[in-house]
Amino acid sequence: MNAVTDRYKSLQGFRDILPDERPYWYFVEKTAVEVAQLYGYRLIETPILEETGVFQRTVGEGTDIVEHEMYSFDDRADKEGKRAHITLRPEGTAGVVRAYLEHGLFKLPQPVKLFYIGPFFRREKPQAGRYREHHQFGCEALGDNDPSIDAEIMGLLYQLYTTLGLKQIRVYINSIGDRNCRPQYIEVLKDYYRPLLSDCCQDCQVRFNKNPLRLLDCKNPQDAQKILAAPKISDYLCEACREHFAAVQRFLKLYDVPFEVDPLIVRGLDYYTRTVFEFTSEVDKLALNGGGRYDGLAELLGGPSTPGIGFGAGIERIIAELKKQGIAPPAEERPRAFVVYFGKTAELKEAAVRLTAELRGAGLRAEMSYGDRSPKAQMKQANASGAAYALIIGENELANGVVSVKDLQAQGVGQEQKQVDVQQNQLLPLLLNTLR
Ligand code: HAM
Repeated sequence: MNAVTDRYKSLQGFRDILPDERPYWYFVEKTAVEVAQLYGYRLIETPILEETGVFQRTVGEGTDIVEHEMYSFDDRADKEGKRAHITLRPEGTAGVVRAYLEHGLFKLPQPVKLFYIGPFFRREKPQAGRYREHHQFGCEALGDNDPSIDAEIMGLLYQLYTTLGLKQIRVYINSIGDRNCRPQYIEVLKDYYRPLLSDCCQDCQVRFNKNPLRLLDCKNPQDAQKILAAPKISDYLCEACREHFAAVQRFLKLYDVPFEVDPLIVRGLDYYTRTVFEFTSEVDKLALNGGGRYDGLAELLGGPSTPGIGFGAGIERIIAELKKQGIAPPAEERPRAFVVYFGKTAELKEAAVRLTAELRGAGLRAEMSYGDRSPKAQMKQANASGAAYALIIGENELANGVVSVKDLQAQGVGQEQKQVDVQQNQLLPLLLNTLR
């Protein structure tokens, strides 16, 4: 066994989700679906592989994701010898907008409100809270630029966290303007940084040319002061963006979402316009989710101008936060019955298999012991399974057409582990209707 496990391990940054961990996932996914549906969002599933171009221009050439985090490769040649350049999706928005355009969803009443849950791939440096395969719950509302949708999207997220029982969630919002006003701000920002550049970190020297807005996102302590003193985009928004952002804040208050405007939220993907936001826990600043408006994205994919807004929430990060805050998911459902057979005859074992099959066929969660273990070992298994009842079949029970039913969960004086014989044909109705 060891030789096998020593030879193969999951890849760095990729993780197995084992059954013991699944209740957390189920809790988050189920709650996310319920909240998304409350707000009128419908599930969309897009492929995990897309043409590289879907991400390249939308997420942006100068971004960390496109520069060095995408899993991209040439597909095998088709009959004509052509090879498609394809990429494991690093994020969900570009694929959803591609699907919206491809299937003409713009012909439906707008906005079209969609959600997704699934894996995403980024070859990030391994570090706490960052995986190379991670999972997001995301929502996208396409086809309308009403600021009340920006508030709705954030209201939905906030309701997800409160429904999960999370406390101390911080909401940071900002507006990064649009194609009218942002270019002017970028020039002002570059004018500010130009004389400081020789004292900036290596990454910022590259950002200055490739992606100046990301200068404000630098985490290097060497540049912290420069960021604080930098000109703020809020002072350079055009009238339309200013009005939009003011309306978003008004509506957000109506959703009762406490928020702070943080002029340093700029986000790591190029497609954003106007509203951007991140939610973090109060304790650490790792983002539980990020999102914003992307009114120019559809055009980058060759479609008509289409407003859109959405978010992606990291499921691994939400689960880590649940654990940090001591919130346990609902317990897994336990078996209703555990069938044990005391004896080694073929007849006895067949009776046990038949009974187990019958229970399962009737929709009852049932387990049985395998491998002809001793009565003691089987009862130990039955107790460990958390089953409500042990259904015991021995030579006597078989001869009398009964099953001995033992209450494994009975507690208290006089209550412990009562055992009664039940006629075989009475067992199902009893388990389904009468017994607790
Ligand atoms: P993002 O901020 O790159 O945005 O990712 C969204 C969330 O996914 C993050 O806030 C974080 O919780 C989680 N996440 C991202 N990368 C990792 C990682 N390597 N390991 C663990 N968790 C991670 C987007 O992807 C946009 N598509 C969101 C969006 C949707 N904007 C508009 N619509």
